[in-house]
Amino acid sequence: MGAGKTTLGERVAARLGRPFVDLDAEVERRTGRTIPELFAVGEQVFRAAEQEAALEVLGRREPVVLALGGGAVLTPEIRRAVEAHAFTVVLDVDVAEAWRRVEGSDRPLARDRGRFEALYAEREPLYEAIADAAARDEEGILLAAAGIHVGVGALELLGMLVPGDGDAELVMDARVAGIYGMEAQLALGARGRGTHEVPPGEEAKSVGVAERLWRALRLERRGTLVAVGGGCTTDVAGFVAATYLRGIPWVSVPTTLVGQVDAGIGGKTGIDLPEGKNLVGAFHWPVRTVIDPALLATLPEAQVAEGMAEVVKTGLLAGSPLWELPRHDLVRACAAFKAAVCLQDPHDRGPRNQLNLGHTFAHALEAAAGYGGELTHGRAVALGLLAALRLSGLDTRVVEEVLRPQKARVDRDRAWAALTRDKKVEGGVPKLVLLEAPGRPRIGVELPAADVRAALDSLIA
Ligand SMILES: NC(=O)c1ccc[n+]([C@@H]2O[C@H](COP(=O)([O-])OP(=O)(O)OC[C@H]3O[C@@H](n4cnc5c(N)ncnc54)[C@H](O)[C@@H]3O)[C@@H](O)[C@H]2O)c1
Repeated sequence: MGAGKTTLGERVAARLGRPFVDLDAEVERRTGRTIPELFAVGEQVFRAAEQEAALEVLGRREPVVLALGGGAVLTPEIRRAVEAHAFTVVLDVDVAEAWRRVEGSDRPLARDRGRFEALYAEREPLYEAIADAAARDEEGILLAAAGIHVGVGALELLGMLVPGDGDAELVMDARVAGIYGMEAQLALGARGRGTHEVPPGEEAKSVGVAERLWRALRLERRGTLVAVGGGCTTDVAGFVAATYLRGIPWVSVPTTLVGQVDAGIGGKTGIDLPEGKNLVGAFHWPVRTVIDPALLATLPEAQVAEGMAEVVKTGLLAGSPLWELPRHDLVRACAAFKAAVCLQDPHDRGPRNQLNLGHTFAHALEAAAGYGGELTHGRAVALGLLAALRLSGLDTRVVEEVLRPQKARVDRDRAWAALTRDKKVEGGVPKLVLLEAPGRPRIGVELPAADVRAALDSLIA
């Protein structure tokens, strides 16, 4: 009571694109009586109506976000249904704060502070027993639902954060292993069964490296692969986890800004082929993502700049200047945003497309430049965001000020040819992600080819 279940539940449901059900409101709707009226007849009458409503909602095929009444867990049938059908987040709220919120309301069980505190103490162990995770705010709920733990010092807790108690093997790129290898191994403790190194950078995302890992792994199916590194490491290790023994659990521990706000989240894994980037892969959601923003302290500035391009993209999609936040808050907010979009559309069939904002242009420029040159992905995304904002008729200042994009030195015809070959192109007309306004993405926008070409040309020196 007073934890904020209804307010936060509504917002989380909107972020996940799911219906929201407030159990108390549902009981009132079904019985045609208010909660105080039902309690006036007797608490058992209310609990029976509550049980019936809860079991119906929890048994639905379509997923919903359900705010349980504070006392719903007292009913064993509801507890069992919750355990069987729901991912449950308990809202962590101080008893004094909860009382301040409900004091003077018409809630039947919140008329007396002593009684309220006793109820809180009585119910707390039940909440703890039933909860899969705890959270205090909207971002916390979204992160918990996606299996993401964000916190300074999280690397040290790795042994506890890797679910289960089976063996774990580490995959790290050689540079990251040199800095954090010992700490990660110590954190895994007796569960650790060794470390496999992969080359730093895009070189890791090859069939050769994947094959080496498949052959070196000794894990059984209940073992867990733990990938510690940038997006290249998590991409290849996640893909190996998706395919080894037909799929084993994996934990993603992103150590770059790109990884912590983007690549380490959402379950897309993959490797490159000589024919192109990310051509082979799988959707394989990590059983946990462990984000320790303190690991960014050793990241070279150039890599931070790569990540900032994705941060600005996320802020534009979220409609909030996330790039202005202190580093740790920025990571948490961006991770929660990406998690929500991916939970809404895990297989990239609709809303997740918004994450391609600016990327159609970026990929075209990178392809024309030949990957691995001076036009890094982050620089290309900065330019792509510029084009997307221009075509959306929006202010481009933020991209100019935060990312300072430099025009690309590439061949215009090659870039255009690459853009019209992009995966999102149907019938030669590029489909773009644009913004109606910050926070309001439009997916699959078709514009006249001449306008798109002009926008692309404006990015080229
Ligand atoms: N799966 C997805 O959803 C997704 C999303 C975005 C990008 N990606 C992929 O991510 C890759 C790029 O990831 P990236 O930018 O993290 O590059 P990366 O993995 O190559 O890491 C960049 C460099 O930083 C070093 N490094 C990593 N963490 C460090 C730390 N804490 N301190 C010091 N050095 C550190 C690495 O050794 C490497 O040299 C691309 O292949 C891209 O396709 C995937």
